[in-house]
Amino acid sequence: MKILVTGRNGIETTVEADPGISVMEVIRENNFDELLALCGGCCSCATCHVYVDDVFLSDLPEMTDDENDLLDSSDHRQANSRLSCQIPLSSELNGLRVTIAPED
Ligand code: FES
Repeated sequence: MKILVTGRNGIETTVEADPGISVMEVIRENNFDELLALCGGCCSCATCHVYVDDVFLSDLPEMTDDENDLLDSSDHRQANSRLSCQIPLSSELNGLRVTIAPED
């Protein structure tokens, strides 16, 4: 499957992804160094913040209270904000588009 990632330079790149790993892991594996993911996916840092194309929002797993609280700590939160480590890839998300949020 593929996902489309827009980096902070505004350039969209299509990357190959395997179902089962998180969107954060896919982004990191494809050398987007601006996505720090400092906590390694434990939902405790918010440095894996992305904006998700609205078309896919309803296909994502529910946000936990922890994710919601962390996103509230960002100055750049939008209605389509999610933490990419909390989005496991499944085949329904083929073609998912995400944009890496600005640094806080
Ligand atoms: S990597 Fe830290 S919250 Fe996602």
